[in-house]
Amino acid sequence: MRAISLVSVLAALPWLGSSSPTPTEPDRPSKRASLPTVTVSGNAFWQGKDRFYVRGVDYQPGGSSAMQDPLADKTICERDIAQFKKLGINTIRVYITDNSKNHDYCMNSLADAGIYVIIDANNPRYSINRFDPVSSYNSQYLQSVFATIDEFVKYDNTLAFFSGNEVVNDNAASTLSARYVKAVTRDMRQYIGSRGYRKVPVGYSAADVSQTRMQMAQYMNCGSDDERSDFFAFNDYSWCNSNFMTSGWDQKVKNFTGYGLPIFLSEYGCLTNGRDFGEVAALMSKQMTHVYSGGLMYEYAMEENGYGIAKIPGAKSPSVQEVDGFQKFADALAANPAPKGDGGFTSTTHALPCPTKDSEWLVDTDRLPTIPTNAKMYMSNGAGAGPGLDGEGSQSAPESGDDISGGDAEQGSGTVSSSASASSTKSAATSTPTNARSTGRVSMMLTLLAIVLAIATLL
Ligand SMILES: *[C@@H]1O[C@H](CO)[C@@H](O)[C@H](O)[C@H]1NC(C)=O
Repeated sequence: MRAISLVSVLAALPWLGSSSPTPTEPDRPSKRASLPTVTVSGNAFWQGKDRFYVRGVDYQPGGSSAMQDPLADKTICERDIAQFKKLGINTIRVYITDNSKNHDYCMNSLADAGIYVIIDANNPRYSINRFDPVSSYNSQYLQSVFATIDEFVKYDNTLAFFSGNEVVNDNAASTLSARYVKAVTRDMRQYIGSRGYRKVPVGYSAADVSQTRMQMAQYMNCGSDDERSDFFAFNDYSWCNSNFMTSGWDQKVKNFTGYGLPIFLSEYGCLTNGRDFGEVAALMSKQMTHVYSGGLMYEYAMEENGYGIAKIPGAKSPSVQEVDGFQKFADALAANPAPKGDGGFTSTTHALPCPTKDSEWLVDTDRLPTIPTNAKMYMSNGAGAGPGLDGEGSQSAPESGDDISGGDAEQGSGTVSSSASASSTKSAATSTPTNARSTGRVSMMLTLLAIVLAIATLL
């Protein structure tokens, strides 16, 4: 979430040396759904066979300090869903949810309104500390993350999970936490696969930091398939009532062309020079749809930083006051519907080379930390009851050695070996080499076992 605005300094460089592309097919949408599930294929999101664009808002009434889950309270979500319908959005992002509470009412009401939800799996109490990633990437944290997946994966209108929010910031030292953010992303994807859940896409929401934006993006899409994200999202406050060129968005489109995964803006909505939300027209235009899949306007609820479009007098007030910006944003969405057709997407996906270390990007290894031993059992047993938002949180949790990472992981360590139900088309299509390798290992072990047994019988 946003405290101050940054102006990006921009230059262009296309992706180099990517490995061979993998064609992917969208999963079939779930039939029971009141809303079809959204899937990822190539560098785009899909609603059945139609391209899906994120046209939404960031939604956290009270901000992060209130630590309030707006999807666990009927009064709150009913009030705001009425406003979402007026805006004509199709997605909200919620930063803080309580994994010990039930979300049936709000999630179903959102689905009835045609609205998907992107859930941040972390919250201020359960998150990676950017300057102490080693001890904050612990089993207590992962238990909370996995419990959040358990709670929201069951809703067809859960669009995606964020594995972290602005963990890496403009302080170069914070780039060392990127390995841990990427490890959590790997663990979440493995958890979803191991539990036999619907393949809800998992990705990271990066801060608006011009000096490491490209490295961060590259890093989240390098390495083995189990280590790569399903999409990438970043926050961008550079529009500032200008245009495609002046904002430098043309350069970013150039830079992200050929990235290999879907991309959307997890926050946009610069306040400088007033706000006509020209971002919407740009995001829905041919200039961007081959690379971007829409974005989320920051933000719905008015807080002290002044980005909101709805003033909420008290946490549980039954109504809100639309402020300047509300109607302008609704008008921008209405004037710029999601384009028909495939938007010029790329049907293949591929990994990128990992970024190299420099004075801004301090990560000097491509290897990720292993999952903490005490968190591994959640893959087979499930995470159990979520800790909710009370309690001491994971950053101050007492730790034994097995609660934190034991060292560097092998590539492929996050591959789903067996799952509670049949795996999806996507994972089957994209992880063939790794699967083939592990299948080979298993059959070799079975052969060895047979030989040992045969010898034992002879003796
Ligand atoms: C494009 O990429 C280059 C190389 O990574 C970087 O220096 C430049 O700042 C990027 N431009 C934008 C607009 O992000």
